[in-house]
Amino acid sequence: MNESSESTTVPFALDYGAPQDRLRALYDLALEISALRDLPSVLNTALEHCLALTGSEFGFIGLNSSDGRFLDVKAIQGFNPTTEFYMHSHLIPLRPSLFAQAILDDRPVRSADAVADRRYGQPAGHPPVLTFLGVPLRVERKPIGMIGVANRSSPYDESHEQLLMTYATQVAIAINNARLNDALAEATRDLEQRVRDRTRELNDATNALAEKATQLQKLLAETVTIQERERQRISHDLHDGLNQLLVGALLELRSGLERLNRNESTGVKTSLKQASEIIHQVEQELRQTIFDLRPPMLDSLGLVPSLARYAKQFENHTQLSCKVETNGKPFRMSESIEIGLYRIMQEALQNVQSHARASNVEILVAFQETHVAMTVTDNGCGFVLGERAGQGDVHFGLMGMHERAQAIGGMLQMYTSPGHGTMVSTTIPVQSP
Ligand SMILES: Nc1ncnc2c1ncn2[C@@H]1O[C@H](COP(=O)(O)OP(=O)(O)OP(=O)(O)O)[C@@H](O)[C@H]1O
Ligand SMILES: [Mg+2]
Repeated sequence: MNESSESTTVPFALDYGAPQDRLRALYDLALEISALRDLPSVLNTALEHCLALTGSEFGFIGLNSSDGRFLDVKAIQGFNPTTEFYMHSHLIPLRPSLFAQAILDDRPVRSADAVADRRYGQPAGHPPVLTFLGVPLRVERKPIGMIGVANRSSPYDESHEQLLMTYATQVAIAINNARLNDALAEATRDLEQRVRDRTRELNDATNALAEKATQLQKLLAETVTIQERERQRISHDLHDGLNQLLVGALLELRSGLERLNRNESTGVKTSLKQASEIIHQVEQELRQTIFDLRPPMLDSLGLVPSLARYAKQFENHTQLSCKVETNGKPFRMSESIEIGLYRIMQEALQNVQSHARASNVEILVAFQETHVAMTVTDNGCGFVLGERAGQGDVHFGLMGMHERAQAIGGMLQMYTSPGHGTMVSTTIPVQSP
């Protein structure tokens, strides 16, 4: 508190020197403190000047606390208080006393014998104050604190008061500047921190976007591959199944024709019967292929019957028990939502078949007033979510399900852990009719 800045040479004490010298000296001192930027240096240097200007033994500068209840002594010189004394006494209550009077009355206060003064209110342990002069520090005509000097050998008079008041005007400006400087530095630090935070957020967002873009690109590539595979499978099915059958039917019809030419009526009948059976098979296969491409029931009957039909096929195909249940009264939703949920269910069942080693899987569709929730739950081996991420393996099933759920305005969550099965839960906000 009481470390003073580099010692200043005050060229004179007020009692000596011609008026023009005093003015010159005041000007130099004001110049010196106006060059200081931080508050402690301003206060200590100013106090040093005040003691020298008035020939005082000790003094202080106090500033009003922000709640206006205290004078907070920020600089002391000529007296070395113990830390304990300082901690107890640096806040002087702003109520009538010799030391607070300059602020309360907003005018200089003088005392020729402070100990005898009834306004005296000195903390225990303070050296006796004999002569005293206090002047307010004003910013925009309001007192923001005060300078107090004490124990000049002879009492302070009008001219000391005038000199200290004049100098206090300069000190108040320097204090105000130092405070503005602090506030500016604080605001700059704050701004820099905010810029750093914002930059980091932006970087994170950019990275997240870049990652998303990479994922989407992979998904797109995979979708193209899936489409290509699907086309191959369909052409394969058509070739191996329908094509073979049609060739068979053609051969039967040709042989029937030849038999007709040869008037072998029984043979003709057999050929026609076989051709008709083959064509019936063709019709069945065609129906299945068309169904796989896009389940027609979805359009005519809606989601639940289509899920039930798929579940039945899944049961036959995998020997797993697969049931569909509903909650609430089923209602129709937009085409894209119904297709989306259907495809998510297909993908989830595909995973159950490939990975879960389950014996049972349940599909539950809950129709609520504001949303529809579909869960696909298996009693299989479960897995650790996210464990495979970043291992370079390419798994598009889960990612595709998430994307699909988002694409229809909803979201998908997985609940799983090793040994506890897996639940894929999709929630889509929809308004029930
Ligand atoms: N129901 C499940 N039970 C157990 N493990 C599962 C289940 N569903 C997913 N998994 C695990 O999560 C992984 C990621 O699934 P995802 O569907 O994304 O990829 P994938 O099935 O391996 O490959 P694809 O891209 O062909 O779907 C699987 O490899 C599997 O280890
Ligand atoms: Mg999968």
